Amino acid sequence: MEIISAHRPLETILLGDFVNSVINEDCIEGMKRLPDESVDLVFADPPYFMQTGGILQRTDGTKFMGVDDLWDKFKDYADYDDFTTKWLAECRRVMKKDASIWVMGSFQNIYRLGYIMQNMGFWILNDVIWSKPNAVPNFRGTRFQNSHETLLWCTKSKDCRYTFNYKTMKFLNGGKQEKSVWNIGICVGGERLRDKEGRKLHSTQKPEKLLYNVIISSSKPGDLILDPFFGTGTTGAVAKKTGRNYIGFELDKTYTEYARERLSKVRPSSDSVTRLGMETKPPRVSMQKLLECAYIRPGQKLFSKDREREVVVTPSGHVYDGQEELSIHKMSAKLLGLANYNGWGYFWLEGENKELVALDSLRYRYKEKVKP
Ligand SMILES: C[S@@+](CC[C@H](N)C(=O)[O-])C[C@H]1O[C@@H](n2cnc3c(N)ncnc32)[C@H](O)[C@@H]1O
Repeated sequence: MEIISAHRPLETILLGDFVNSVINEDCIEGMKRLPDESVDLVFADPPYFMQTGGILQRTDGTKFMGVDDLWDKFKDYADYDDFTTKWLAECRRVMKKDASIWVMGSFQNIYRLGYIMQNMGFWILNDVIWSKPNAVPNFRGTRFQNSHETLLWCTKSKDCRYTFNYKTMKFLNGGKQEKSVWNIGICVGGERLRDKEGRKLHSTQKPEKLLYNVIISSSKPGDLILDPFFGTGTTGAVAKKTGRNYIGFELDKTYTEYARERLSKVRPSSDSVTRLGMETKPPRVSMQKLLECAYIRPGQKLFSKDREREVVVTPSGHVYDGQEELSIHKMSAKLLGLANYNGWGYFWLEGENKELVALDSLRYRYKEKVKP
């Protein structure tokens, strides 16, 4: 078993051997051994009970393997609902008070999942649509191409203080509020795990980008993430990359072994997104401090984002617009015709290649240097 160092100590010593490991066991039985209220986030990609025939024919006559795995078979809906209720009850028990849970599914099962979850007391925060630009076609042309799946993001009850890294997701979405429709391609190419014969190892391996959005939006570094249906270990791989901890249960021995091998190759990386640098209050660093430490210099030009407005930094840490010398806040308010404005968000400067760099980003850079 492999333990990666967490950014904050896990208070769950009792979890001991489970943390950062893949357990080859039925998740309902396995989860019973986890203590109450011990995980920060659950991601569950359960069997969908798709009830499809295995082999589909492409238009060129070649065969496409649909999901026809034994693990996706149930006697009937009552059997599926019973299974769903049991694993969800264990997830609910091991979730901390303010933890959240993502459960994904498709039209075959998502309505059952949502109904059962609401009846159990879960509170739905969003139903996120995973829209697939490269979805599998409807080969026979008998229905619309099914090009999305749904993720229910829920808390244990209505009043939970769950983690939502709003600013980080907005940053990742180019400065715009992230929406509940995510365009992410299905898992292909080098990311797709292959067996020894070069065949697709798992019929439903999820793309890492999907898990990246889930984990970055709703967990903190060092959090413990539980995935009861681990498959190829996508949740664990992204958790490890982003400095989170994981526990995975997987019934199938082969998938378990491949997932373990996949995880052994993942190296954690740390950047301001994974560390959620945008969620903390901006560091209190003055213009004078930035001048003193040569992050900016007197005479340097600052611009509005559209470059329409231009001012010059003065030796006192103010800015001059050709008429008067004011603080960055008073000057940005003046240029916008407002009573007050936050100049850190208004001014930009030119980087090495003449690209615009936010003045505000210098405060973060300064802070990182002074206190890594
Ligand atoms: C939809 S797949 C998950 C795929 C995974 N998200 C990935 O990216 O590889 C569901 C997985 O759950 C496993 N499974 C089914 N029933 C299980 C159970 N009762 N306990 C643990 N694993 C189970 C299956 O073997 C399958 O690998």
